[in-house]
Amino acid sequence: MVKNKDLLIAGNWKMNGSKKNLSMISLLMKYIKQKKFKNSEILICPPNTLIDAFSNISKRSKLMIGAQDCSDKEYGAFTGDISPSMLKDIGSQAVILGHSERRQYQEESNKLIRSKAENALNNNLLTIVCVGESLNQKKSGNTLRVIGEQLKKSLPDKIKPNDLVIAYEPIWAIGSGLVPNNDDIYKVHSFISDKLKSRYGGKAKKIKILYGGSVNKKNASSILSIDYVDGALVGGASLKFSDFRAILDFCN
Ligand code: PGA
Repeated sequence: MVKNKDLLIAGNWKMNGSKKNLSMISLLMKYIKQKKFKNSEILICPPNTLIDAFSNISKRSKLMIGAQDCSDKEYGAFTGDISPSMLKDIGSQAVILGHSERRQYQEESNKLIRSKAENALNNNLLTIVCVGESLNQKKSGNTLRVIGEQLKKSLPDKIKPNDLVIAYEPIWAIGSGLVPNNDDIYKVHSFISDKLKSRYGGKAKKIKILYGGSVNKKNASSILSIDYVDGALVGGASLKFSDFRAILDFCN
C-alpha cells in the first residue's frame, strides 16, 4: 500500500476495446465500491466509441471516464474532430492530451496541444498533458531540456490547478517493458514540480504529476512510492481487469 498519497490511476486504452468490455467496467465498479478508496481517483479513457456506454454505467460511482484527445475548437466545419463540450455531453470527465503517439503519428505540436488544453480546461475537463523524451534524447543527456521545453510550450498560462495533470511518459518506456530507474523518475518529477512552481506559484501544489510507461502490477508499488509521483498513466495493463486491479490494490 502506498501511504499518505492522493493518487490518480488513469487507464489509457488507446485504440482498443469494444462493447464487450462493458463487463470489465462493471467488475471495476464493483471492486471500487468494495474497496472504498478514500483518497485515490480512478479514471478509464477508452476510445470515444465507448465513452457514452461506460459513463452511463459508471454514473454515481467513483470511476471517472475520459477521452484520449479533443479538438481545440468548439464546433463547426472540422471533419472528424470532437470538442470538449461534445465529450462532456456523452459523460466524459477528463481528457488525455499530447500523448507521444499523437505527437508522433498525428504530428501534434506543442502549440496545438496548448490550445487543446486551454479548450479542455475552459470546459472543466480534467486535463492530462503528456510530456516525455525519446531514447536518443535521453542518451544525449537532453531529457530535462526536452521536458522543460514541452512544459513551457504545451501548457496554458491560465490554468485551473485542480483540473490540470501532467503525465511524464518517456517514449522509450511506452509499451516496451522498460522503465527508468526510481532515481531517474524522481529527478524528472521533481524537475517538473519545480518548473510548475516557478510558473504557477502556489497553485502548482495542486497539479498532480503521473508517471506512465510500462507500469504493471510488479513495478507499480515501487513507482507510486517515489516522491513527486502522484499516480500513474497505464496503457497495456489497464486493459485486463486483474492487471489493473492489482495496480489499484496499492492505492487507498
Ligand atoms: P504502457 O502505455 O503502459 O502500455 O507502456 C502507457 C501510455 O502510453 O500511456
